[in-house]
Amino acid sequence: MSRNPYTPGQVPRILAGRTVELRRIESLLARVVTFGELGGPLLVFHAPRGIGKTSLLRAGQQRAAESGFVTAWVACSRQQPVLAEVAHSIGRALERADAVPSGAAGQRWRGQLERLTVEVGVPGARVSAQVARREDAAPPHAAIGMLENLLHDAAAAVRQRGGAGLLLLLDELHTASADEMSVLLNTLQNLDGERADNPLAVVAAGLPVTPEALTRAATFGERSTYISLDVLSDDDARAALVGPARAEGVGWSAAALAAIVEESHGYPYLLQLLGSTTWEAAEPADGEQLTLTAVKRGLPVARDQLAAMHRARWGAASRLDKQFLSAMAAAGDGNVTRAAIAAGMGVDSRAISVPRERLIDRGVIEPVGHGLVRFTLPGFGAFVRSLDEE
Ligand SMILES: Nc1ncnc2c1ncn2[C@@H]1O[C@H](COP(=O)(O)OP(=O)(O)O)[C@@H](O)[C@H]1O
Ligand SMILES: [Mg+2]
Repeated sequence: MSRNPYTPGQVPRILAGRTVELRRIESLLARVVTFGELGGPLLVFHAPRGIGKTSLLRAGQQRAAESGFVTAWVACSRQQPVLAEVAHSIGRALERADAVPSGAAGQRWRGQLERLTVEVGVPGARVSAQVARREDAAPPHAAIGMLENLLHDAAAAVRQRGGAGLLLLLDELHTASADEMSVLLNTLQNLDGERADNPLAVVAAGLPVTPEALTRAATFGERSTYISLDVLSDDDARAALVGPARAEGVGWSAAALAAIVEESHGYPYLLQLLGSTTWEAAEPADGEQLTLTAVKRGLPVARDQLAAMHRARWGAASRLDKQFLSAMAAAGDGNVTRAAIAAGMGVDSRAISVPRERLIDRGVIEPVGHGLVRFTLPGFGAFVRSLDEE
């Protein structure tokens, strides 16, 4: 048997589609390469879990490295102060690239890195003090100045060594606090004022709440570029299945492909999961083909995996959240109105804001405009309805 080339939950071997989105990243990089200036406003990709944000960012990172960029990757989380992680990640990236400034400049650099880490990075102390500040208070200037210097010096150091510049990638940006977002946006705003000396680009990804959270953190958060990622088209879905198998000398029957494309609705995680369970069911050798029979034998395994994800999301919900989800599931699988959910819960429609926001924040549901919401994970509505029948 050849090895299973599918990657449910991991970066794919072959990134299908996403040509438009990659082009957006490349045009930022091109500006840095050509003019040695800031690649433009913060570029933010947003989508629910499993749509391919991390995979896209990783592909962008690879392109950047191929074009001579030094890249720093930060997986933001609520557990770690984000700006300290940014400082660490840039420090590590420069060290790996052997681009840390030498001599006195290098000492200044290390000093800066340390000060920024202390300034923004002591969990519980400064960060929580900042969170407590009033809405109309100024953003923390010391942190902005330090991050500005750090990004400027790091990007300039890469350029001086003959590199193209620095690419900072921020995944899961929705987990950053309002203060961290504010510092980041203010810093980029300041650097934008002195474009020519900042060979730097910043690309981020997060759940659908990210644009709103950034705009709330700083009014000019609106000036960032927001691009929502959607499920893959049927052609791209087929490419996501065919490409990895072909690399192992294995083909797909047309009927098998059609069945998976239909079952997955173009949801990238499901494509990888179904590709994987089909592969395991068939154990194909070089030169063989994956058939509809193998798809069908793999389906129960895939459905079990999906059910486990449904259970995990349900289990993490509070009692009120569960009432909200039940009312929503009862209203159907498509887009559901506020009024329908409130009616199902037997409350006024103004009373559902708290669970609604919380579930959006966690990526369980997503807003689709005009107050409508829908589930982000395929089959979740049916899962919730099946619980209610028990
Ligand atoms: N363009 C793509 N082509 C093929 N597989 C993809 C693509 N985008 C994502 N995937 C797959 O989908 C799953 C989820 O991708 P990921 O990047 O982790 O999504 P997100 O970061 O949005 O949660 C992974 O298993 C990954 O391999
Ligand atoms: Mg991700």
